[in-house]
Amino acid sequence: MEKTLVIIKPDGVKRHLVGKIIQRFEEKGLVITALKMETLTLSLLEEHYNHLVTRPFFSELVDYMTSGPVVILILTGENAIEIVRKMVGTTNPLQAEIGSIRGQYGLSHTENVIHASDSTAAAQAEIQRFFK
Ligand code: PPS
Repeated sequence: MEKTLVIIKPDGVKRHLVGKIIQRFEEKGLVITALKMETLTLSLLEEHYNHLVTRPFFSELVDYMTSGPVVILILTGENAIEIVRKMVGTTNPLQAEIGSIRGQYGLSHTENVIHASDSTAAAQAEIQRFFK
């Protein structure tokens, strides 16, 4: 059994996609083992996106991620990390497979609906970061 962390980003919450997105994960067979809604702080995001601080889009990214509440979940299941990443789709919605969450709901590279842990190490660190 693996655990992974998912964040439904501010555009996903504003567009009332939370139920639809969670339904996909539940129908796949993943189990929600934690769930909360909150507005993220700049300091938490600077830690979370630390690897991106030098990128030109960094300030746009944190402005957007603090623009409204997000929904944060821990999903548990066999191979949960890889399965959830496949369901989420690639970062750029232009390239995301139609049928993936970003492929179906995303239009922009920044406002791309959802985040999911991309490795075992990232999942452990992100679960600890968001559910201390
Ligand atoms: S990398 O280095 O671009 O491959 O980084 P990646 O791990 O894919 O994560 C990039 C995160 O930054 C968000 N973001 C953007 N990425 C690329 N270009 C632009 N313009 C951009 N704006 C925001 C992107 O949605 C990724 O967020 P997360 O939450 O990790 O999915």
